[in-house]
Amino acid sequence: MSGLYTILRPLLFALPPEAAHALTLAALRPLNRCPPRADDPALGIDLWGLHFANPIGMAAGFDKNAKVPAALRALGFGFVEVGAVTPRPQAGNPRPRLFRLTADRALINRLGFNNEGLARIAPRLAAAKARGIGPLGVNLGANKDSDDRVADYVTGVEALVSGADFVTVNVSSPNTPGLRSLQARDALADLLDRVLAARDAAPRRVPVLLKIAPDLDSEERQAIAALARESGLDGLVVSNTTLARPEGLGSPRRQEAGGLSGAPLFAPSTALLAEMYRRTEGRLPLIGVGGVMSAADAYAKIRAGASLVQLYTGLVYEGPGLVRRIKRDLSGYLARDGFRSLAEAVGADHR
Ligand SMILES: Cc1cc2nc3c(=O)[nH]c(=O)nc-3n(C[C@H](O)[C@H](O)[C@H](O)COP(=O)(O)O)c2cc1C
Repeated sequence: MSGLYTILRPLLFALPPEAAHALTLAALRPLNRCPPRADDPALGIDLWGLHFANPIGMAAGFDKNAKVPAALRALGFGFVEVGAVTPRPQAGNPRPRLFRLTADRALINRLGFNNEGLARIAPRLAAAKARGIGPLGVNLGANKDSDDRVADYVTGVEALVSGADFVTVNVSSPNTPGLRSLQARDALADLLDRVLAARDAAPRRVPVLLKIAPDLDSEERQAIAALARESGLDGLVVSNTTLARPEGLGSPRRQEAGGLSGAPLFAPSTALLAEMYRRTEGRLPLIGVGGVMSAADAYAKIRAGASLVQLYTGLVYEGPGLVRRIKRDLSGYLARDGFRSLAEAVGADHR
């Protein structure tokens, strides 16, 4: 943490977490008019026919309704994933549903896909894209009361073919009962069949990624890697929040129900990332997310196999300056280790 955020953080932390989040979004809105900053060309990377000026993205869940994607690019993020978006608007779970574990630099959330729905969000994305804001990913969710959850993902892909640069099928949120069972082999095979058929039938090809949970057992991890390779999926996002409560959590809130994010998630999510890189033989682009609180953390994800990195909880604890510091130090790490480009460093730990 540094600069202005050492003063701002205590003020934000004096508010309930959701109120602090709403205030942060409101404060960011004026920045929607600002252009993105220039980045060190060594931090650029090309994937799926898109250029990412730097690999540090805003993770899903921060800008659920696509209100501030341009502001997040102006803050220095290389790309933004908005959502989760469900076909119909949804209020989410009763409050309180977001908790700070300050001593652990972590959060627990059980928001439950609160969002304004596709019909409200899709036009905002189209407007952002028309202004050249991007790359812009959209995290897709299913409505809690849906009869056919797979159909909800298909609807999302079809609605966002022109508004999104990539979409992420999120079957790993712990806060919609039963959703994570879509990660089981047969359910996932059916889901990918239908979602990728929608992608392939669309007039424009939108890359489709799958976001997975850190709590999968070995058999599930193996099945997902095999399906990811065979199905023609465009990438994996590793990982979502965890239902586990690692030893050593010191905060009184640690027993709240929901998904844990932040520093305690770094080790398990990075181990899963490395495993998925190995299992897919480095052939599938991976986005590494979970517990990135520093440039060293981001670099570790890249060396473990991430072509792109995302963060959310780090922003809450370290403030917006974190993005600039990560990029500055990442350039230094690449030069120190003799990599001429970011792409050369991806998966370096496996070689
Ligand atoms: C408040 C909150 C809301 C989130 N909402 C979503 C979501 O809608 N969809 C999703 O895929 N992940 C969601 N996530 C998970 C993050 O995208 C990310 O995978 C996770 O927090 C780990 O990254 P972090 O440790 O940098 O926060 C949410 C996380 C938080 C803290």
